[in-house]
Formats: sequence, structure tokens, C-alpha cells
Amino acid sequence: MQAEANAPAAAPDALLPRPFRVVATWRETRDTMTFELEPLDGDGLPFAAGQFTMLQVFGAGEVPISISGDPGRPDRLVHTIRDVGGVTRALCEAREGDVLGVRGSYGRGWGVSEGAGGDIVIVAGGIGLAPLRPAVLETVAARHRFRRVHLLYGARTEEDLLFRADLDAWSGLGVEVAVTVDRAATTWTGRVGLVTELLRDAPFDAARTLALVCGPELMMRYVAAELISLGVAADRVRLSIERNMRCGVGLCGHCQLREYLLCVDGPVLPLDAVRSHLAVREL
Ligand SMILES: Cc1cc2nc3c(=O)[nH]c(=O)nc-3n(C[C@H](O)[C@H](O)[C@H](O)COP(=O)(O)OP(=O)(O)OC[C@H]3O[C@@H](n4cnc5c(N)ncnc54)[C@H](O)[C@@H]3O)c2cc1C
Ligand code: FES
Repeated sequence: MQAEANAPAAAPDALLPRPFRVVATWRETRDTMTFELEPLDGDGLPFAAGQFTMLQVFGAGEVPISISGDPGRPDRLVHTIRDVGGVTRALCEAREGDVLGVRGSYGRGWGVSEGAGGDIVIVAGGIGLAPLRPAVLETVAARHRFRRVHLLYGARTEEDLLFRADLDAWSGLGVEVAVTVDRAATTWTGRVGLVTELLRDAPFDAARTLALVCGPELMMRYVAAELISLGVAADRVRLSIERNMRCGVGLCGHCQLREYLLCVDGPVLPLDAVRSHLAVREL
């Protein structure tokens, strides 16, 4: 991956959180909230699609959270958070006017522009659509630079679908959106099944495709294997790999995966780098 996809080098004060005020919140699903934050010091937070911040609730702790907002709007920091434990619960309870600590932006992003001239295939599972939303927004903003743009999204149930208004809007903006759920209620009239099945039906030119994948590791493993079997080169399949993180800037070693420190070398890595970890073999 090229430098364009990377984070700016960590500044000397990279461990100091900056205060950001919550200016809007909305519920995505029963356990997931989206937050819009603005910097109290007035300086925006430039980021590349796929990067994350270390988000701190004073008195509760600090966790890595991907940026789910628009890379073209560094003045508005957007995060989408699922309540799974102590810190994420405290974050999900934040209200308009609350002040959170923010460090970052950190890590390597998707490198969306490296797909220019060809097809972009974005495959998301569950909360994995949050780190991919900026990538979708980037392709929409420069739609003429890409041939076909596919968004293939799978969730457990209809109630677990994130960004539902966006999914409709993106369909009208040149993104071929396909959605599937694992379990359907009687109200669901769309597809039921695995996101890998959507891949088989999506017309794209494998030789000219950049694929961006985020979701549970098991899902990413099957999606990566399917992309390889369809002819996408392993270095053109990119995955976001999450591990526990503490410093976020390559100092503590908490996020190590083999030779990689995922906070600086990732979270986005090409399939070549993680193939053995995910046990993806060529079919
Ligand atoms: C680069 C990166 C980006 C992330 N982006 C998002 C995001 O956009 N939205 C979001 O909701 N979450 C995201 N996460 C996951 C989030 O950081 C964890 O859910 C959070 O750290 C859990 O902390 P907690 O104190 O709430 O829960 P804890 O009490 O610490 O843990 C609760 C449960 O979550 C598991 N867990 C802890 N840390 C992680 C982790 N890093 N990844 C997966 N499971 C974990 C624990 O094993 C445990 O089962 C991201 C993680 C990374 C590394
Ligand atoms: S989180 Fe400390 S080295 Fe990655």
C-alpha cells in the first residue's frame, strides 16, 4: 500500500487527548449509537477513510473507535459505537454537550484512491460498515474516478442494519448496494443468506478490482477466499483487523499481530499480510 493511504506520522503530543463536544447523537440499532463531535479548540481532525481515534470518556477509559464520518468534513468527527462493555457503554450514554477526549487520527486507511480507474467492491458485516462508511463516501464524492462501485452488506437481522438512510441514498448516487440478513422477520422482503453469496452475483472485473472488507474475522476469511477464487489479486484485497489497543501509536505492543503493530501498520492490511493468520488459502 502506498503512503497516500497512511496516517500522518504521530506528532510528539499524540498521547494527549483533545477535547471534543458531542453535538448530535442518534440511535442506529438497539445496541449501536452514532455521535457527531466538534473540536473545542476549533481545529478539525483530518483523516483518511479507515483510520481510527482513541476515544476517551473521562473516568471510564479509552478505546479505539473507527471514524465513520465523511473524510471531506474534518470539522465534524463521526463515530459509530456498539455497546459491548464498560467504555463503549459509557460512550453510548454520552449526550449532546458532553465533552470526550480524542487522540488521533491513527493507523493506515483503505487507500480508496488506489482503486481509481477500476471497480471498488466494499464488503461489510455488521458493525464493520462503520469503518467502511468513509470509504463509501469517498467513492461517492469522486464517483467518476471509479468504474463500478459495489457495497455488499450483511447483518444478523433487519434490526441490526446500520445507516439505513445512507444505504438508500448511496443507491441513487452510483453505488450498487446489496443487503442480506442472516435471519429474516416477516417484514423483510430482501435477501437472506451470507454476504459471500452477494459477491457471486455482483458484476465486477476482478482483474481491475480493489476490495475493502470489514466484519467478524470468520466472515472476512470466507469473503477473502471468495474474492481470491473470483480472481481478485491478494494485494488488492484489504481487510481491517481489530485487536485490543492501548497507546494507539506503536509504543506498547498490545496490538501486535505477528510482525505487525496494528495501530500503526493497520488496522487496514492487504490479504497477503494476514493470509496465514486468517487461514485463507487459494481455492
Ligand atoms: C482499530 C479499531 C477500530 C474499532 N472501531 C470500532 C467502531 O467503529 N465501533 C465499535 O463499536 N467498536 C470498534 N472497535 C472495537 C472497540 O474498540 C471495542 O469494542 C472496545 O475496545 C471494547 O471496550 P469496552 O471497555 O467497551 O469493553 P470490554 O469490557 O473491554 O470488552 C467487552 C467485549 O469486547 C471485546 N473487545 C474488547 N476490545 C475489542 C476489540 N478491539 N475488538 C473486538 N472486540 C473487543 C472483549 O473481548 C469483550 O468480549 C474498534 C477496535 C479497533 C482495534
Ligand atoms: S496499541 Fe500500543 S503498540 Fe499498538
